Amino acid sequence: MANVIIIGAQWGDEGKGKITDLLSRSADVVVRSQGGVNAGHTVVVQEQTFKLHLIPSGILYPETECIIGSGTVIDPEVLLEEIDQLKKLSISCDNLYISQTAHVTMPYHRLIDKASEERRGKYKLGTTGRGIGPTYADKAERTGIRIVDLIGKEKSIEKIKWTINYKNVILENLYHLKPMDPEVVIAQYLEYAEVLRPYVIDSSLKIDQAVRQKKNILFEGAQGTLLDLDHGTYPYVTSSNPIAGGACVGAGVGPTIIDRVIGVAKAYTTRVGEGPFPTELEGEIGELLCDRGAEFGTTTGRRRRCGWFDAVMGRYAVRINGLDCLAITKLDVLDTLEEIKVCVGYSIDGNNSNDFPTDPEALAKSQPIYETLPGWQQSTADCLSLEDLPKLALDYLKFLAEQLEVPIAIVSVGASRGQTIIIEDPIHGPKRALLDVNREPQ
Ligand code: GDP
Ligand code: IMO
Ligand code: MG
Repeated sequence: MANVIIIGAQWGDEGKGKITDLLSRSADVVVRSQGGVNAGHTVVVQEQTFKLHLIPSGILYPETECIIGSGTVIDPEVLLEEIDQLKKLSISCDNLYISQTAHVTMPYHRLIDKASEERRGKYKLGTTGRGIGPTYADKAERTGIRIVDLIGKEKSIEKIKWTINYKNVILENLYHLKPMDPEVVIAQYLEYAEVLRPYVIDSSLKIDQAVRQKKNILFEGAQGTLLDLDHGTYPYVTSSNPIAGGACVGAGVGPTIIDRVIGVAKAYTTRVGEGPFPTELEGEIGELLCDRGAEFGTTTGRRRRCGWFDAVMGRYAVRINGLDCLAITKLDVLDTLEEIKVCVGYSIDGNNSNDFPTDPEALAKSQPIYETLPGWQQSTADCLSLEDLPKLALDYLKFLAEQLEVPIAIVSVGASRGQTIIIEDPIHGPKRALLDVNREPQ
């Protein structure tokens, strides 16, 4: 029995969807705590590919309850499309629950997101354009509309009308866009509300009931550590807290109920959108990683920037999240390389550092210090256990575990469920895994 947080240890798209799906078979409840439809989580089951934006990846297991928690921002239009698509694929959403205190992404949020990106010009952030920043900004400004308002009574409709008129001032005067007709928007959103109403609950209460019944709860992170609003590469971040602490805040649970935190990291690094990326590869190898890894965004289709694994960033993710162990994904993408580099430190103005700089100027100047490891140059896609892995691939994993000083509990060698090596079941097993820094494989 355990309550487990799964978080992205890099800049998102680490394969959290795949790992959540995998561990969902042991979970009674899967909770999304933050983020919105900026997330794109891919789960591949046999021939079928599921792309989830808001619905927790546990939805593919009929008995698993899936909760979209308070800390998320919900675009009802996209959520309803997602529910419809799953239903078409015969996936039931009867076990889906939505927090009444989650904030709603309204049409003006999407407009403002895109218009403000345009206005930023060379300072643009490269957002997903899904209205995430403006929705969270309204939450902080206390002009947000919550699910409870949408399904609410007359009084809330007045409030929504007031908010749309308030936003119209900004749309017209700041961005020179056409104002929205409050009546049209409200009519549309009340329709959405009627469809969503049966799913709406007090999510913190429901999670607490699961905790008291000693159920297994999985908290599925969205985005990644370096996209965290407080601890990421600000301002090139998202507007929520994708780190482990954010899972508790967003779900409405105390940190004492958490047993494990698993960090998901690719065997290399990717980033989509603007911002610093010390180990970025712009030449042939970057292209190869992008092609072999099919590195195109699930949500926006944008090409992801690719680079070597960055252990400085990895150690930072271990610290910020208190990671117990790692799930390393996409090892197979490195299969053809003759040699593989890992960034083990940064050189900043001629000084070497092992710590991730939180000063953006220092980060921009950081030159990676690499260690080069030999590639294994054979396929790992069919490896089902550590023993099946080429020795050099195992050496690579051990090197990462040593660098980050946490064990590796899961290795993923392909997109489908079966292409996974579970070294130690992080839910039921002991805390240390086989790829512990001091151990030799048998
Ligand atoms: P998430 O946002 O963290 O859930 O990750 P995404 O789904 O956006 O991106 C990860 C992509 O890599 C998806 O297309 C997955 O199907 C795919 N994937 C996951 N694990 C592996 C793996 O081990 N090998 C390969 N080749 N692809 C993988
Ligand atoms: P998953 O859950 C990768 C990035 C955007 C942009 C920045 C801000 O699939 O890992 P936003 O729209 O959130 O205001 O954009 O954050 N970003 C992601 N990158 N994976 C994600 O989610 C992301 N969600 C947001 O590209 O750089
Ligand atoms: Mg993704």
